[in-house]
Amino acid sequence: MSDVFVTRRIPRAGLEVLDGAGAAYTVGQHDDEAALPRAALIAGAQQADVLLTLLTERIDHEVLAANPRLRGVANMAVGFDNVDVAAATALGIPVCNTPGVLTESTADLTWALLLAVARRIPEAHGYMTAGRYARWGPNLLLGADVGPGPDGSARTLGIVGYGRIGAAVARRARGFDMRVIAWTRSGPERIERDGVEYASLDELLATSDYVSVHVASSATTRHLLDARALGLMKPTAYLVNTARGDVVDEAALVEALRSDRIAGAGLDVYEHEPAMAPGLADCPNAVLLPHIGSATHATRDRMATMAAENALAHLRGERAPNCVNPEVYDAAAYRARAGTAQRG
Ligand code: DGY
Repeated sequence: MSDVFVTRRIPRAGLEVLDGAGAAYTVGQHDDEAALPRAALIAGAQQADVLLTLLTERIDHEVLAANPRLRGVANMAVGFDNVDVAAATALGIPVCNTPGVLTESTADLTWALLLAVARRIPEAHGYMTAGRYARWGPNLLLGADVGPGPDGSARTLGIVGYGRIGAAVARRARGFDMRVIAWTRSGPERIERDGVEYASLDELLATSDYVSVHVASSATTRHLLDARALGLMKPTAYLVNTARGDVVDEAALVEALRSDRIAGAGLDVYEHEPAMAPGLADCPNAVLLPHIGSATHATRDRMATMAAENALAHLRGERAPNCVNPEVYDAAAYRARAGTAQRG
């Protein structure tokens, strides 16, 4: 039995938090390149009081119900679409995420992708490393302006989903003198408070030079950007997605990229991650990254310590600070589970 089952190796800083509290933990998978087999996940869940999980594990009813003593799930990510939160709530299990600490690093990566696809940075790098640079040329690797460009007119950035990361991307756009417009399902209030223009989603898609996606994955956002939505974009516009892959219909995106229906896309996330839709890897107008939005040393350390602190709160039976289903604490199922853990 261990107090915490850590599904895959996390940064040392997180394990030090568990060590510091004297919590016994087991790490399920030490090889960074390998998945945790499903059977090992279930076995780990059966033998621990708390799960510290990553977005690569599907924490569904089967996992959650595997152990009547399970006190909580601490997901080391701000997104928690890998966890069946409704099932956890019904079983009386609190679930935590790591909000806030990856906002700036993810916004930086969004900006890097936007610039990379607009200015064809990976292609230009490949051109150099392939030894193809023979002489400067006026037509070599031409891209699109992000700042105002020679005519002085601002480019428009459309932000789809205006939470912490969307707002951080909007702040960066000011440094490039862009016009920023945003849409979020909850309406204009927060957007306008930040001095950003609110637009309907269709209007945003039709008028933006760059569209950046920042909504969470859910049943209501799945394929929010489908073939119809992509069809509204300008042929000169670029799509950037550092949120979740299933927000975009990836097959429709491949079609839009292949047919030059849009100018390009910068993607950090994929609909069936880690797989890519057929044809996506062959699109020269796509810049593709392996979900590294929050991948800085400092951010990953902070995510790991935050997840470990959440795990300890579960272990101690305290209200965890970053609980995404706080209503669970008032539920009979939670009290019954806490009683089982104490008796155990
Ligand atoms: C998250 O936290 O949800 C990111 O996708 C990974 O850091």
